[in-house]
Amino acid sequence: MGVKEVLTINTNHRLDGIQPSSILSFNEQISTIADIVKLTVGEPDFNTPEHVKEAGIKSIQQNESHYTNSSGRLDLREAMSHYLESKYDVHYDPSTQIVATAGATGGIYAGLTALLNPGDEVIIPVPTFPLYIPITIMNGATPIFIDTSKTGFKLNPEVLDKTLKEHPKTKVVVLNFPNNPTGTTFDENELEDIAAVLKKYPVYAMSDEVYSELIYDQKHVSLGRLLPEQTILLNGVSKSHAMTGWRVGILAAPKAIIPKIAMVHQFTITNVTAIAQAAALEALTAGIDDAVLMRDEYKRRLDFVVSKLSEMGIDFVSPKGTFYLFCKIPQRMTQDSFAFCLKLAEEAKVAVIPGACFPSGEGYFRLSYAASFENLKLAMTRMAKFMEVN
Ligand SMILES: Cc1ncc(COP(=O)(O)O)c(C=O)c1O
Repeated sequence: MGVKEVLTINTNHRLDGIQPSSILSFNEQISTIADIVKLTVGEPDFNTPEHVKEAGIKSIQQNESHYTNSSGRLDLREAMSHYLESKYDVHYDPSTQIVATAGATGGIYAGLTALLNPGDEVIIPVPTFPLYIPITIMNGATPIFIDTSKTGFKLNPEVLDKTLKEHPKTKVVVLNFPNNPTGTTFDENELEDIAAVLKKYPVYAMSDEVYSELIYDQKHVSLGRLLPEQTILLNGVSKSHAMTGWRVGILAAPKAIIPKIAMVHQFTITNVTAIAQAAALEALTAGIDDAVLMRDEYKRRLDFVVSKLSEMGIDFVSPKGTFYLFCKIPQRMTQDSFAFCLKLAEEAKVAVIPGACFPSGEGYFRLSYAASFENLKLAMTRMAKFMEVN
């Protein structure tokens, strides 16, 4: 083989088993269709609150253009600690237990990379936000999937127990609630049952709770309250404060493992952008309840979409939070979710994400109602027509 060929193929072999995000590629594929209404996005359609933007602007004007403490400004970590405590009754010391990460994504990367060795296993209940899977593989570890589709799209404690027994190499169990893409979450009793199982094993739980503020009709319970000694808690301002582009996440974990996590974070990004930290500080202090208005609006949209989908005879997983509905493709139609979503996009000009983008999600589609009421109305009218003729 010539030098050129070797250079072309000689990349990290762990990447060979990973594909780029099919959510993004499907979204790109349908984006070329004229006049399409997109219910595909995984982010709030609201603007970042004005006072938060102003804090970012002020930070630029005050020349906050320098490196900060790698784990984040201490006042930001204090605000993060206070936010988590006042909302979810969890207790994390800002100096020794919190890292401000580049979105929850940065926390997932730093947390898993700090813990995993080649040969380790990571239990991932699916369907879920897919990112944990490539990061596990990039670390030479193996994802072990638990299909939750037969248990109401919620992790069942007995199934978790059995899987942990069968997989003694498990180092981490991933939990994501409220869940992307299904909108399910645990109530306190259910989470206690999960925590009781986890407690029996020497494993960490990576608890991704980024949608904790977007939960309807019940209170979010954090695993960080029930099982702090084993939990790596992830949160952030992306979903709660409509700040996905600012890239600020929260990682909170037991003191013993933070130095390793902080080291991976430091060697990867040095620190979260200083001006984004200033904006996040404002969001988590003066804007501590900013999510409430947005949540109420999401609920209004959810109720509307739910009533329309029900009229169309489309079943969906009972939504408790997030801004997603996970819908069953009617049995009379193709159960190939890519084929279904492409047809819906081309013929009805409504875009949703194929369930197969999420392991164990085939036969479903994910509809994001983080879209304007007008667009939702238009999409529902178009979809109803499509359902009538198909
Ligand atoms: C469950 C879940 N975790 C993490 C993220 C990424 O969040 P961030 O923008 O804070 O990196 C997402 C984004 O869609 C998500 O759905």
